[in-house]
Order: sequence, then C-alpha cells, then structure tokens
Amino acid sequence: MTATRVLLTGAAGFIGGHVRTALTGAGHDVVAVDALLPSAHGAGAEPPDGVRRADVRDLPALTELLRGVDVVCHQAAVVGAGVDVSDAPAYASHNDLGTATLLAAMHESGCRRLILASSMVVYGAGRYRNSRGEFVEPAPRRAEDLEAGIFDETDPGTGEPLEWALVEENSPLRPRSLYAAAKVAQEHYALAWALATGGSVTALRYHNVYGDHMPRNTPYSGVAAMFRSALENGDPPRVFEDGRQTRDFVHVHDVAAANVAAIEAALPGFSAFNVCSGQPITIGEVAATLARSYGGSEPVVTGEYRPGDVRHIVADPRLARERLGFRAQILPAEGIAAFAYAPLRDAAPAGPPRV
Ligand code: UD1
Repeated sequence: MTATRVLLTGAAGFIGGHVRTALTGAGHDVVAVDALLPSAHGAGAEPPDGVRRADVRDLPALTELLRGVDVVCHQAAVVGAGVDVSDAPAYASHNDLGTATLLAAMHESGCRRLILASSMVVYGAGRYRNSRGEFVEPAPRRAEDLEAGIFDETDPGTGEPLEWALVEENSPLRPRSLYAAAKVAQEHYALAWALATGGSVTALRYHNVYGDHMPRNTPYSGVAAMFRSALENGDPPRVFEDGRQTRDFVHVHDVAAANVAAIEAALPGFSAFNVCSGQPITIGEVAATLARSYGGSEPVVTGEYRPGDVRHIVADPRLARERLGFRAQILPAEGIAAFAYAPLRDAAPAGPPRV
C-alpha cells in the first residue's frame, strides 16, 4: 500500500484524533486541521501538536491546504442532537456550508476523493416490521403513551407493537434532529459533487461511538459519557424509558479503522456504510455493564423520555464487511466494561455552538 496524502478535518476532536493516530500508524501522510470551536474545545483552545487551525468554511485556506492531497477525510462537524432550534444556524453553518465549501475547494484543487463522517441519525426512527414480517413506518410515539410507560413503536394502521429490524444502508433517510438534517445534507452535497466531478465519496454512518477521550457530560454528549460522568460523581446512571431501547455501540478505535479501510479501499462513485459492531445492546445493559465494571451505584431506570429519541436503531454490518473489509474488533460487552476506566476529554465547552 503506497502512502496516501490525507487532509483530515476535525483532527482535534474525539473521533478525528483517533482517525489521525490510525492513519499515521498505517503509514499515511496526514495534513491535520481543526477549527477548535469553543463549543467543543473551550474558549481560546490551542491546536494539539501537529494540528493546524483551519475552518472548513474558509475556501482560500482550504484550497491552499489541499495542494498535493489525494483524499479528504472530513470529520469536522458540530455534533450532538441540538439542544433547541436556536442551534440550527450553527449546524447549518459548520456542517452544511462547511461541507459545501470543502467540496468547492476540492473542485478547485482537483482533489477527487472524500471520506465523509456521517451518522446513523440519517435513518431517523430505524426499521420496523409488523407481525406479518412487512416493513412498516412506525407511528410517531405519542406523549400520552410515553407518559404511561408505553415506549415501543407501533403500527400506524393497527396499533400493534412492531419488532425492530436491521437497518441497511438503502433504508429511507428520515432526519429528525438538526444534526440529522445536517448529516443528510452533507451526504447529498457530496453525492451531487461526485456526480458533477466524477469524484468518489464514501460516507461512513457511525452508530453510537464511545471510547477513550470521549468528551465528558455535556448536553451534546452521547449516553455512555453521561453514565460515566454519573458514576464518577458517585451517582447512579439514569436510564431513560424502560432501558430496553436498543443501539449499536461501536468503539472509536473501530471507527478509526473503518476510516483507514475506506481510504485504502478507494471505492469509485458514492457509497454509504454502517459503521457498527454488529452486536446490539440495550441502554439498560450499557448502564449495568459500566456500573459493574466501575464498581459504582446500580443504574436507576427512571421512565423519563426525551421527545425526539428513537426507540431502537440496530445496524446491519454486512455491507461494510463485504465492500470495505471492515469488521469491528471490539465487542460492546468488553469495550464498554473497559470504558468504565478510560480517560475522558476534559475540555470545558464554552456555551452552545455558534455560527
Ligand atoms: C447518539 C447521538 C447522535 C449520534 C448517534 C450516533 C447525542 C445526543 N446523540 O444518538 O448525535 O449521531 O448517537 O453516534 O449525542 N439516555 C439515557 N440516559 C441519559 C441519556 C440518554 O438513558 O442520561 C438514553 C436515551 O433516551 C436514548 C439512549 O440513551 O434512548 C441513547 O441516547 P444518546 O446517546 O443521547 O443518543 P442517540 O439517539 O443514540
């Protein structure tokens, strides 16, 4: 494998930092950039060693950085689900406009390959089947049912509970949050760019990522960091709904390996892949595994719910295995137990994301 020159955006972030280590370890030449947004890195943060400060919305700076670059690995994004709609301009600016600007810079500099960090949130509520095995778009979960402790997705026609099914990459895209809307937009801009230029795009749809240097408890953090932070404070992890909601937790080292695999596979055209462990786990099990491993308080199942949350979202890992040769190495049961002791990132986010 000859070394590839990679422009890595978001290189100072949780996932980007691990991608950088993996790419360098695989012998690639990495141009690492990050905008060091105060909402993620704290006010006045300086770039880590070897990372340059650059904002993907800065067309001239990017065009300059892209000189001699073979492939862009685009991890930079405002993450989380959005606390409220006042975050919308920040998602649109950094994620939508940022990607559009990056694509324009790639066009100007002749760089034809993009690896895009996408997310399982593009699938919305996930995939469900009725008792006859047919795919059904579930009815929106009603506040009165959630209040009454009825959490499962139901058939809009019959009201019967639905069973979750594996989400394949050709499932409909149904964004439900600001972040999800931006991830779908990024994929669509990238697809349009690929068609217009003959370039290639590999969109990696990360499922629930966890692992060392995950940011601590913030309104934009995933649940694993929330549970870890609770345990460290001597509190029980608070499990929402009935704890039986299902996800696919994928370790950040595997996510980094998937990026290396995508860069080395060099697939033509546009393709999208689930990046997941293939081992579904309930949120109750995640909390129990962490609490046991940490030796902390038993989780509490609170019955609380968040209005935009999805019930089950479980990925099919087959396509990434077949086309990228990617298979997660860290199973959730082991990885989550180890995460009880993993170092977390201590940046103090300075407020909500800003344009
Ligand atoms: C998360 C991310 C999403 C990301 C996706 C894939 C957030 C807010 N969501 O989606 O942006 O694209 O993973 O990596 O970052 N829960 C509790 N207790 C808590 C907090 C949450 O039980 O203290 C439950 C929630 O109700 C939900 C589950 O844990 O059922 C997962 O929550 P979370 O990790 O926040 O979000 P996802 O929807 O899975």
